[in-house]
Amino acid sequence: MTAVAYGIWKGQEKSSENDIIANLDPLGADDLMKRIPDINNSRDVSALVSLANTVTPSLCGAQDLEYHQANAAIRDIGIFLGSIKRHGIEPCAVIHDLEAIMNVLAETTSMPPRDTLLHYTVWNPADHRRRTYTDTRDEHCLIDSVVKAMDPLVKAIRLLANLHHTPMQFTDFKIICENAAARFQQVVDGMVLARRNVSLSFFATELRLYFDPVRIGGREYLGPGAVEMPMFVFDQLLWSCDCADEDYRVFKETYLPYVHPEMRDIYLKYQKHDSLLGKCFRTIIDDRLDFDPIVLESMRALRQCFQQLKRFRMPHKKVAEEAYAQEIREVDSENSDHRSHGSGGYSPDILSHIVKLTNQKVAKLDAYISFYEVKSGASLVYSGR
Ligand code: HEM
Repeated sequence: MTAVAYGIWKGQEKSSENDIIANLDPLGADDLMKRIPDINNSRDVSALVSLANTVTPSLCGAQDLEYHQANAAIRDIGIFLGSIKRHGIEPCAVIHDLEAIMNVLAETTSMPPRDTLLHYTVWNPADHRRRTYTDTRDEHCLIDSVVKAMDPLVKAIRLLANLHHTPMQFTDFKIICENAAARFQQVVDGMVLARRNVSLSFFATELRLYFDPVRIGGREYLGPGAVEMPMFVFDQLLWSCDCADEDYRVFKETYLPYVHPEMRDIYLKYQKHDSLLGKCFRTIIDDRLDFDPIVLESMRALRQCFQQLKRFRMPHKKVAEEAYAQEIREVDSENSDHRSHGSGGYSPDILSHIVKLTNQKVAKLDAYISFYEVKSGASLVYSGR
């Protein structure tokens, strides 16, 4: 029970950090930011560059900003970075002192020297102050989908971290799993919201171009695509910290620098541990322990977390594939090049790979459950499949 209460308390703390950053306007940019969608629409790069240089603080000004202000400043400068890059220009070539300024802000915030999904969504105000590239309904819906999903995902991750310290023989284990699965429902709902309200054609041929990588200090930094959600931290705790798959390890480490420092700490803390799936295995093969119906209940409850993951991943993969198919159709009809990679640098193939791994891990858990049912002597058929 203590574990559940801890999750809720930390969640409130995080919400207030989001609100504090979203409410701030340290560069006095509220009015100027509203002009960006029109400027993007008319492809007026010189207006964009001139506005960016007006909004970006001096190096001294950047040094004076504390953690929350610095994150709000990155959020606002970030909209310019994505916009300028979308029109084919590297922002460092046209914004004075950009590299040094972004490095100072990165140092203050322990984040990369450009905006991330956090800046674009939960640290972006929800109202008339919201910063966007296009001010279209599709873009607002995409942001809303991620906002809906982000906090529940973070709370579910904290609950999984608690499970690592909760014996499977305790009824708390089941309660925490159920809580995590319930939180994760909002992530599934966020995906459904995007699928219903974001035009895949608009996403593929316009919106995602604003999330392209930008070059700062000789390195490419990825834009604020939804791929930067800490979903891989959820995976890490549930099934992947002890998974040897090299492609998935590289994928996780690509996005690790872009998630909240708290999520990075959790990811690294459990790196050398058994995953929760591994914990199931160790618990049931221990011959010194008699069959325990609570352990069986714990495994079945953990399966709900896997089930939720699949309920997100299957439709999401379909959406991504449809968006890319759409892009190929539209761009081919204009007889020009199309890009086979997403804003995160991967193609939708990586999604098939992640879905395949997730399915393999669910199959493993099912095998453990069946084995343990046999161990009970009752040969139960698990009805939850
Ligand atoms: C228009 C809708 C969307 C499209 C076309 C789309 C497309 C993609 C693509 C192509 C990838 C592969 C990585 C890359 O970008 O290079 C990806 C990854 C990902 N996206 Fe989306 N996405 C969409 C909406 C969303 C939403 C609303 C969420 C969350 C609520 C989300 C969460 C993720 C996550 C977590 C990954 C990492 C892979 C995984 O964990 O399964 N996406 N997406």
